[in-house]
Amino acid sequence: MASPRSKYSSHHHLFPLSSFFLLFTSLFLLAGHTTARDSSSVVRDYILLSCGASGVQQDEQDDTLSATAATQDPSVSQVPYMTARISPSSFTYSFPVSPGRKFVRLYFYPANYSAYFAGDSRFAVTANPGNFTLQSNFSASQTAQALKLASIAREFSVNVPSGSLNLTFTPTAGVPNAYAFVNGIEIVSMPDLFGSKLLAIVGTSTTYTVDESTALQTMYRLNVGGNAISPVEDIDLFRSWIDDSFYIFSAATGVTYAQDTNVTIRYTKVPQYAAPNNVYGTARSMGPNPNINLAYNLTWLFSVDPGFLYLVRMHFCEIQYPFTDMNQRVFSIYLNNQTAQQDVDVISSSGGIGIPVYKDYIVIVTGGTDQQDFWVALHPYQATKPMYYDAILNGLEIFKLSSTGGNLAGPNPIPPPEPTPDPTKVVSARGQSSIGKSAVLAGAVGGVAAAIFLV
Ligand SMILES: *[C@@H]1O[C@H](CO)[C@@H](O)[C@H](O)[C@H]1NC(C)=O
Ligand SMILES: *[C@@H]1O[C@H](CO)[C@@H](O)[C@H](O)[C@H]1NC(C)=O
Ligand SMILES: *[C@@H]1O[C@H](CO)[C@@H](O)[C@H](O)[C@H]1NC(C)=O
Ligand SMILES: *[C@@H]1O[C@H](CO)[C@@H](O)[C@H](O)[C@H]1NC(C)=O
Ligand SMILES: *[C@@H]1O[C@H](CO)[C@@H](O)[C@H](O)[C@H]1NC(C)=O
Ligand SMILES: *[C@@H]1O[C@H](CO)[C@@H](O)[C@H](O)[C@H]1NC(C)=O
Ligand SMILES: *[C@@H]1O[C@H](CO)[C@@H](O)[C@H](O)[C@H]1NC(C)=O
Repeated sequence: MASPRSKYSSHHHLFPLSSFFLLFTSLFLLAGHTTARDSSSVVRDYILLSCGASGVQQDEQDDTLSATAATQDPSVSQVPYMTARISPSSFTYSFPVSPGRKFVRLYFYPANYSAYFAGDSRFAVTANPGNFTLQSNFSASQTAQALKLASIAREFSVNVPSGSLNLTFTPTAGVPNAYAFVNGIEIVSMPDLFGSKLLAIVGTSTTYTVDESTALQTMYRLNVGGNAISPVEDIDLFRSWIDDSFYIFSAATGVTYAQDTNVTIRYTKVPQYAAPNNVYGTARSMGPNPNINLAYNLTWLFSVDPGFLYLVRMHFCEIQYPFTDMNQRVFSIYLNNQTAQQDVDVISSSGGIGIPVYKDYIVIVTGGTDQQDFWVALHPYQATKPMYYDAILNGLEIFKLSSTGGNLAGPNPIPPPEPTPDPTKVVSARGQSSIGKSAVLAGAVGGVAAAIFLV
C-alpha cells in the first residue's frame, strides 16, 4: 500500500466539493484530505470519499473491484451510492488523521454490482487503532429490507490517539459468495462531545464513564418538537437531526412549539456544538390540562440492539413565557421503565429561560438475540407542588457504547413479514410505529449523504 502522504496528495482525488467548502473555509481548508486549524487551534479533519468512483486514486485498493450499481432506486443519490468498492476478500482504507475523536460515517447501497448480487454481501467492518468491531456479519440488503429503505448510513464515533485511522472490510468466512462493499466514507473531527464524567447507570447505584477508549454508534438523534435539521445546517459536525414525531408512542403526543419571539438561545451552560439553535428553540411538552397530563406519560419508543450500554442524552431549554422560574415545571424521566431522574427542573439546571442544558444517562439493555424496545417517558412530578403539571423535551440522542473488546456490532434486523393487505382492518398503531421508527432511523443518517455529498 502506498504511503498515506502519497495516497492523499491531491484534492482532485476526492469528490469535488469546492462550493460546499467555500462556505466553510474558516473551518476547513480544502486539501483532499482536509486538515485545518480553527480559531481555537484544534486540528480538524474532513474526509469525504465516494468509493469506487472513477479517478479517485486514493480509493484504489489491490484485489478489489470498483463497480456501478445495476439499478438506481429513486430515493438514492448518484453520489455516493451508485459506485462501490467491492471485494470477496478483506480490504483496508487507511486515512491519515490528526489525533482526537472522529465521526466515522459509512454509506451502503445494497444493489447488484457487476457479478455481485445484492443479497450476498456479508461482512465485518473494523476500525483501528482500538480494534473496534463496527459491524459484524453485516447484511446490507437484509438491513435495508428490514428498515424499508434503499440505502443505509451508519454513524460511529472513535477516538484516534495518533497516526491514521484504518477501516477494514472483511467478508464473513464460511458464508457462500460473501463479499464486502462500501459506497461512501466520511470522517469528521469532533470535539469531545461525551466528556469523561461519571454518569449514573439507570436502575443501579453505580456509575459509568464514557472515555477515550469508548467507541459509540449513533442510534437516534432527534430534534424534539421541531423539523429535521440537515447536516449542512449543523455546520461543525454535519450531524443529521430528525423530527421526533415518528417515534412518539400512542395517541397522546403532547404539544409542540417554538421559542417565543423575544427569547434568544444563550449557550452559557453547554458549548454551542452540543446541539444547534433549532434543537433548543423547539420543544414538545404535555399540554395545557394538568389532569390529562397526570394521567399519561409523554412516551417515545425506539428499537435497539441487546447486550449493550446506551448513552441517552436529553437536551432541555425553556423557551416560552411564563417558564422562567424554578418549580414551575418539574417532571420525572423514565428510561426503559426505570426512573432515571425523579425531579428534573430545567430552569433550576439552566438558570433561566433560553439557556440550554443537557442531561446524560446510561441504560443497560439486556434481552435476547433480536432488537429490543427502548422506552423514553416523561411524567409530571407532584411532590414539590410545581405551578404546572407538565414536562418538556427539546432534543434526544441515543448512542450505543462499545462493549469490552471493542464490539459495537448488533444483529441484522429481521425484515417484517410481508403484510397481506386487508382493507377491512385498520393497521395497529404499534405496528405502524415500529415500521416508522426503524425506517426513519436509517433515513435520518441517510440524509447525510444526500445533503453532504451533493451540496
Ligand atoms: C439482482 O439480480 C438478480 C438476478 O438477476 C435478481 O433476481 C435480483 O432481483 C437483483 N437484485 C436487485 C436488488 O436488483
Ligand atoms: C493502518 O494501516 C497502515 C497501512 O496498512 C499501517 O501502516 C498502520 O500500521 C495501520 N495502523 C493501525 C493503527 O492499524
Ligand atoms: C480484535 O478483535 C477481535 C474480535 O473481537 C479479536 O478476535 C482479536 O483478537 C482482536 N485483536 C487484537 C489485536 O486485539
Ligand atoms: C451470519 O448471518 C447469517 C444470516 O443472518 C447466519 O446464517 C450466519 O450463521 C451468520 N454467520 C456468522 C459467522 O455469524
Ligand atoms: C415575551 O413575549 C411573551 C409573549 O409572546 C410575553 O408573555 C412576555 O412577557 C415577553 N417577555 C418579555 C421579557 O418581554
Ligand atoms: C409512566 O411510566 C412509568 C415507568 O414505566 C410507570 O411506572 C408509570 O405507571 C407510567 N405512568 C403512567 C400514567 O402511564
Ligand atoms: C414498559 O412500558 C411500556 C409502556 O408503558 C410497556 O408497554 C412495556 O411493556 C414496559 N416494558 C417492561 C419491560 O416493563
